[in-house]
Amino acid sequence: MDNLTTILESCKLEISNALTMQQMYDIRVRYLGKSGELTTIMRTLKDLPNEEKPIFGKKVNDVRVQLEALIVEKESVLKEAEKTARINSEYIDITEPAKLPNKGNLHPITQVKNEIIEIFRSLGFEMRQGPEIETDYYNFQLLNIPKDHPARDMQDTFYFSDNLLLRTHTSPCQARTMQAKQPPIRMICPGKVYRSDDDATHSPMFQQVEGLVVDKGVTMCDLKGTLDAFVKAFFSEDTKTRFRPSYFPFTEPSVEVDVTCSVCKGEGCRLCKGTGWIEVLGAGVVNPKVLDDSGIDSSVYSGFAFGMGIDRMTMIKYGLPDMRLLFENDTRFLKQFN
Ligand code: PHE
Repeated sequence: MDNLTTILESCKLEISNALTMQQMYDIRVRYLGKSGELTTIMRTLKDLPNEEKPIFGKKVNDVRVQLEALIVEKESVLKEAEKTARINSEYIDITEPAKLPNKGNLHPITQVKNEIIEIFRSLGFEMRQGPEIETDYYNFQLLNIPKDHPARDMQDTFYFSDNLLLRTHTSPCQARTMQAKQPPIRMICPGKVYRSDDDATHSPMFQQVEGLVVDKGVTMCDLKGTLDAFVKAFFSEDTKTRFRPSYFPFTEPSVEVDVTCSVCKGEGCRLCKGTGWIEVLGAGVVNPKVLDDSGIDSSVYSGFAFGMGIDRMTMIKYGLPDMRLLFENDTRFLKQFN
């Protein structure tokens, strides 16, 4: 009887101390299981005098029933607690701001290209495209750069063969357009061009926009007016242009066009190397020989052409110190243009 009381008390204590369902399972096995304490003590029944047997048997049973009830009760408390803990740990706060998906953006060169196209579209220019693999004929000869002409040295060319090359400028698209249609012509041709050049301000592949206008009575004034309107729309209304004499075989006269520095507004800074001016494009009045060679009568029509580097325009517009930033695909750089 004393043993039974000890068993009851120690089991009650363990039940009240138990913290997990696993501990409850162990208690159940240890006290009520097949070789548990109560079963073991029940085996001593046969050694008792006959008259004590029913009393002891009943007592053991009472203890079993009592323990069973306590265990069930504690188990239900623990189950409930475990459920609450799980709900708390798996709780999702639907009022928290959601993590936004990483949104990409157009590459800065693409953005600037689109902007340039849009400005010229608003001035009435149509867009044309030409092949990146060109023939010597379109890239050079039709543009008044015959074989062995020194002007070929201005453009370090990637050749596939004597006749096939990667276009070094978008100007062949001028010639192709003039061959394809009679004036009035007002077109731009944006696209990739290639030169064997690689440093902080030159990349072997870069992008240009060529522009060409051919009609009756087109003069240098039209060229100046058009480019002036363009840089004001592209940089800012207070941007000024400066035209310096230059040389291109396909234009005569030829100019190099500078704009007032977008950073210092002409005061002189690092971007413009203290001059207040930045060179942005080459242009000129179309050489009559180029018109005639392409099938347009130069005694009736005249025109102007210009070409600019999109990568260069992007660098100037955003004050980028190194062109290679545009080609490294570092998202920390690119997402600043979002
Ligand atoms: N094709 C010239 C270049 O790539 C730019 C240019 C285009 C100059 C049209 C004049 C007229 O350097």
